[in-house]
Formats: sequence, C-alpha cells, structure tokens
Amino acid sequence: MSKRPSRRLGSREVTALLGDWSRPGTPAYRALAERLRLLVLDGRLPVHAVLPSERSLALDAGTSRTTTTAAYRLLREQGFARAEHGAGTWTAIPRGHAGPTSPVLWPILCGSLGSPDGRGDLTCAALEAPPQIHAAYVAALDDLPSYLPGHGYYSGGLPELRERVAARYTARGLPTAVDEVMITSGAIRGLRTALSLLARPGGRVLVEDPTYPMALDVMRESGLRPVGFAVEEGWDLDQAGQVLRRPGCEVAFLMPDFHNPTGQLMDATTRQALADRCAAAGCTIIVDETLCEIDLRGFLGDGGRVPPPLPAYCGGRTTMCLGSASKTFWGGLRLGWIRAPRSLVRTLLVSRSADELTCPLLEQLAVAHLLDDLPALRHRRQELLSARFTALRDALSEQLPDWQVPTPQGGIVSWIRLPEPRSSELAVSAREMGLVLAPGARFGVRGGFEGRVRLPFARGEDQLVGAVSLLARAWNSTADTGDPQLPVAVL
Ligand SMILES: Cc1ncc(COP(=O)(O)O)c(C=O)c1O
Repeated sequence: MSKRPSRRLGSREVTALLGDWSRPGTPAYRALAERLRLLVLDGRLPVHAVLPSERSLALDAGTSRTTTTAAYRLLREQGFARAEHGAGTWTAIPRGHAGPTSPVLWPILCGSLGSPDGRGDLTCAALEAPPQIHAAYVAALDDLPSYLPGHGYYSGGLPELRERVAARYTARGLPTAVDEVMITSGAIRGLRTALSLLARPGGRVLVEDPTYPMALDVMRESGLRPVGFAVEEGWDLDQAGQVLRRPGCEVAFLMPDFHNPTGQLMDATTRQALADRCAAAGCTIIVDETLCEIDLRGFLGDGGRVPPPLPAYCGGRTTMCLGSASKTFWGGLRLGWIRAPRSLVRTLLVSRSADELTCPLLEQLAVAHLLDDLPALRHRRQELLSARFTALRDALSEQLPDWQVPTPQGGIVSWIRLPEPRSSELAVSAREMGLVLAPGARFGVRGGFEGRVRLPFARGEDQLVGAVSLLARAWNSTADTGDPQLPVAVL
C-alpha cells in the first residue's frame, strides 16, 4: 500500500491555478483533467498532495460534480492521481514518466537539450559551455598545487576571485571592495541566503510580475508572500508604490539587467524612482543580476551604455546584488556571488549554514580565469545568442505569423504574445509531441499570462527551427473548433 499524503490542497487554491480551463470542442471533464495534469507536470501543483473533494472543486470551479468526478477518474487512469478510500484523491506521476518540469527539476531535465526534430526541453534558458571552460579548468588545475598545502576553506570565497568580482562591479559603475563580495554556489543559493537574513517569515516581498519562477519558489519555501507589480512595456512604478505602501513589505526582488522573462533593461530614471520608493517604505532591494552580461542590444538593435547597477541609485542604503557564473560562462560551474555592505557580508558568513561552508576551489580558480577573459567570452555569447534569437524569430514569423515576438534587449528568452490566451493548452499539446514548454502562467505571481509563452533561444539554430515546427503543430491542434455555446445550424 502506498504512503498516504499529508499535504492537502484547498479548492480555492486549485481553482486559482486552473484559470480558464475550458476548451471549446473538448468535453469539460477531459479539459479539466488536462489542465490538472499540466499543473502537476509544470510543478504548479505538488506531487503527492491531496486534491480538493470533487464537490468542493465543482463548487469553486463553477462546474458539475459529474465533471470533477470524471476528471479525477481520468487522471487516475492516466496515472496522474491515486485514490484510497477515506484518504481522497492525490496527485501522482505515472511509473516511468520523467516527472514534473518544475523549475527545480529543469536543470536535470535539461540534460537533453533537444534533438534536431525539435523535441526536447524548451524550458531551460541555459547555453552549452564555450570552449574557454575547458581551458579555464586546465589553467585552474595548473594553479592547484600552490593551494594544496593550505586547508582549502575560504569562507567568503577565494580572495583572487572576490577581487575580480569586485573589480567588475567597480568597472560597471559601482565601486566595490573585496570584503563586500562573498562567493556562493549560484545566484539562487544566494537568494536563499539573502532572504534568510533580510526577510521574516510571513513578510511580503515586492516582485516583478512576471518574474523568475524559481525565485518565487524560494520565497514561498521561506514562508514569504511575494506580491507582484506589473512589468510590461517597462516597470509600473505606480503599482510598485501601491504595494510598498502596504505594511510588511521589507524586501524587494528586482531584475533590472536584464529582466527575466521580458528581456528588458531598466533605464536610469526608473532605477532612481524604484530606489526612492523602496527607501521611503524601508524596503531593502535584492538585485538579481544573473543575466547582466547578456546585453544583446548591440547585435539586435541599437547598443548603448548600461546604467550602473541599481545599488548606485540607493545612496548608501543597504542593498544586495546576486551574481552568477551560470549564464555568462556555464551552468555546470555552479558558482555565483553576493555583493553587499561589508557588515552584512560578515553577518552572512557567520550565519552561513553548515552545508555551504565554502565553495569548490577548482571552480573558483576556473571562474577567476574566465573573468580575466570576460570581454572576448561575453562578445561570443552575445553573438551566438543573437544569431539563435534571429533564427527563432524568423521561423516563428514564417510558421506562426500571428505570434508577436518582441526582441529582448538582453537575456536568453523571448516573452512571446500569443494571439489567444491558450498558453497552458499549448504546453499540454506540445508535451504530447515531445516538446516541453513553460506556459506563461508559470511566470506570474498568481498565475495568469495565458496569452504569453516564454521561449528560450539557447538551443542550436536547427533545433530551434525544429521546435517551431512542433510548436506550430501543437498550436494548430489546440485551435478553436467552434464555440459550443452557439447552436449548430442544421441545414
Ligand atoms: C534571473 C535568474 N536568476 C537566477 C538564476 C539561477 O542562477 P544560478 O544558476 O546561478 O543559481 C537564473 C537561471 O535561469 C535566472 O534566470
């Protein structure tokens, strides 16, 4: 007998995630089961959690109990739910299935970046390693003997690496000393560390909406409540101000260079305005700069200077920057950094959890070499990504001409506007064809964004073109087959 789940999902919670789940031409029970299956597969519904009762879901989702009963039955037949008398129905993954594409698992699934026929993973915005990675490891191995007589623990990070990271901030317009930098095992790890110090469980976090979903997951796991303000064509400062006026918003999480998923660069005026509003509300800003070196403007449009990092607008108030080697260099390095006032860095080092006393030495040495080679490496990354974006955009304009494909100013993804709000349906159909997509709702603080899909252009051009063919098939297979509300004319 399988272990009974302890976590229960409320029917309001599930209904909010369902959004508009009906599909014209598809029986209601099947459409409901498909949407629930998608929510399990993309990580929005946890696996092994009890679904609401058929009756309460029917009430909240505005449907009949017959529909919810039949939907749960279909999910059980497909292996996406299990039930036991007295324990209800809970979410599951069929035996042999790869499992959810939750952001936590994306990197694992990304092991297969895709095949030329387009199948594979189109959720992962990460590039293959450039040739310099191997050379950097070789150079690091050559450096290693001089470090072997020491104990190998560098609690703030290898001094040579901290120096280079600090120098890069200074060059970007934010003077930084070595002891204002601490090395972490990636930006997302840095976020967890930063939140543990700056936020109290139950507190609100101001976030852009849409935002980077793994950051939302980390906030929720830390017991925090993300509250969104809109980023569409630019950052909605009025909405940000409204959120900040509510009590309990002590931290803001922002991505000014370059926002994931919209690919926008925040201008200097907006930086100043947001810095001022946060200061007035006593809210500390955490800046995620994972994508800051992936500036595509010079290749896909007009270049120009990037404004200095956001802390330069905060007049000495406490801010934290999260950096990463993952996008500029390679995800396999698993290194990042925090830039913060030295007193905060000291506190972070003292409170750093026992499972991350220090980061691997060889990787730190390798990243120090890569930073020495930054201009050439960055240029090649930007060139490669611009060519891949152009291939993606051209294939989309040929095969799906009514999709709007904004040109990102930077980053690795395009936040595409669909002609109809059917992103989740598209993800369901694409998955059946072997293409895994993250629907727009995955990036919303409270779901939504059914009219958007985020497409990374990290894969090779042939693979992207293949993926677009599958996308076109998947989109056309979800097309409206007539409005069942209208009476069918009998001629
Ligand atoms: C905005 C943003 N932050 C953080 C990360 C994760 O960075 P790391 O691999 O350094 O943890 C990503 C990866 O996609 C990202 O896009």
